[in-house]
Amino acid sequence: MMQINDAVLTASERVLLSLRSLYLSRGWRPYRMSKFEEYDLYAGHKEFLVSDNVITFTDTDGKLMALKPDVTLSLIKNSADAPEVTERVFYNENVYRVTKGAEAFREIMQAGVECFGRVGQAEIDEVLALAAESLGLLPGEAVLAVSDLDILSSLLGRLSLSAAETERMYTFIGERNAFAAEALLSSCADRAAAEALLRLMALSGTAEEALPALDTLLSEEPAYAPFRAALLSLTQNPGGVTVRVDFSVLGDIGYYNGIVFKGFLKDIPEAVLSGGQYDKLMQKLGRRSSAIGFAVYTDAAERAFSAEAREEGDCLNIALPKGRLGEKVYAAFAEAGYSCPAVLEPGRRLIFENTEKRVRYFWVKPSDVAIYVERGAADIGVAGKDILEEYTPDVYELLDLKKGVCRMAVAAPESFSDDPEKTLRVATKFRNVARRYYRARGRDIDIIHLNGSIELAPLLGLSDVIVDIVETGTTLRENGLIAKETVFPVSARLIANKAAYKFKSRQVDALAAGLKKVLEEKDA
Ligand code: PRP
Repeated sequence: MMQINDAVLTASERVLLSLRSLYLSRGWRPYRMSKFEEYDLYAGHKEFLVSDNVITFTDTDGKLMALKPDVTLSLIKNSADAPEVTERVFYNENVYRVTKGAEAFREIMQAGVECFGRVGQAEIDEVLALAAESLGLLPGEAVLAVSDLDILSSLLGRLSLSAAETERMYTFIGERNAFAAEALLSSCADRAAAEALLRLMALSGTAEEALPALDTLLSEEPAYAPFRAALLSLTQNPGGVTVRVDFSVLGDIGYYNGIVFKGFLKDIPEAVLSGGQYDKLMQKLGRRSSAIGFAVYTDAAERAFSAEAREEGDCLNIALPKGRLGEKVYAAFAEAGYSCPAVLEPGRRLIFENTEKRVRYFWVKPSDVAIYVERGAADIGVAGKDILEEYTPDVYELLDLKKGVCRMAVAAPESFSDDPEKTLRVATKFRNVARRYYRARGRDIDIIHLNGSIELAPLLGLSDVIVDIVETGTTLRENGLIAKETVFPVSARLIANKAAYKFKSRQVDALAAGLKKVLEEKDA
């Protein structure tokens, strides 16, 4: 047979072949399945899917079928429910889904492993080691970030929070949003649990660095022992990757439990590997068996082989919002020790670098900052809470900069009174904010999306109310409108790309701490 020269392989083929060889060499069984699945399987478990959209078609017998948006659900469906036996399988499959931010369906190649049945500490250690080795096969510096949902849920359980508050806490943990978490937990009686949770949220070191702190914080926590054992085992055999403890790594908390983890490659702006224990999902599907597994997103991984991966050294890329707010924010960055005087020079240049301070600033349209950061073109940036609520980017929210303070409000002519019998016509730039606000109130609305001068809409009979930013209130006053309800307070936030943070946490944390100090000195 003709020998295949490695050079003829595409990046994606190379990733898949190397993963396949690894899994086969460890005795995992290849699992091949059809591209189709009965639609019913997804209809009942849409929350588990990355997006609600599924490509459906009718089979020859009239049954509604789907092109698979996910592999795990089919694997569980087809596995024997044998809690005493350990089943180890791996797969390479295409899935069809609309990814976040994309407008259309994409075919995505996934490789993954799933371990079903009896899953004890040995199997957990084995899967984690395999995840680390999988990452180690990909080019460049790699980080495996590990967290534990049983620990989080146990600490949260001690805080007597309502279901809605608990959900918000999970959001804050996922955003590394310490200031919002502190505010929410300020009235909790169990201070030890609240403090432990806040300190866990702030952890961002390697497993070796984090272990002494975890030992102190979680000495009374029964869920800690299995996590500790898994971390120790992983650090003894990390497969060339850096293992980090990072409690912002959360899966869907309705499905995952115990250990969850994500893998990152330097300069690739999203996770390339994701997994965890999912006994909860098994239970939801009526199974008694346990399960743990992970998927490698080969399309993200293959970018590490291509020219797209940027070699940038350790410069911190910062997206600033163009305009008055950006200038105020830059002044705080400069005061914190990250100056780059060229930023304020008149002209049309958009990129400025201070190699000595290892920072590179970009001026970006305020509403675009979140996109630059989410997509990794910038490591960090400053965006208004209005923009974050509208676009819900998957980013960290590290600091409230307390600048650009205003509020999102519903405003209308003074004489307006809402008639619940009629659909409310709402003019706004913030479609998602308005939709969520009225959906929570069960109010039927018609959204009129405008790009500016929103206050005109009710004056000209285009809408009944507006949902917009109110700062001084001058625009409303001068146009005969009044603010009827506050939707949420707004201020500028320091945001960070989640993947970039895994590699530059020291720099980002130092900058955030510097900014916090500057802000506190101003307040004092
Ligand atoms: C914003 C907002 C309001 C105004 C509120 O508009 O949309 O119109 O500021 O500020 P005030 O309460 O201090 O009067 P922006 O200046 O961004 O212009 P736009 O009309 O193009 O949105």
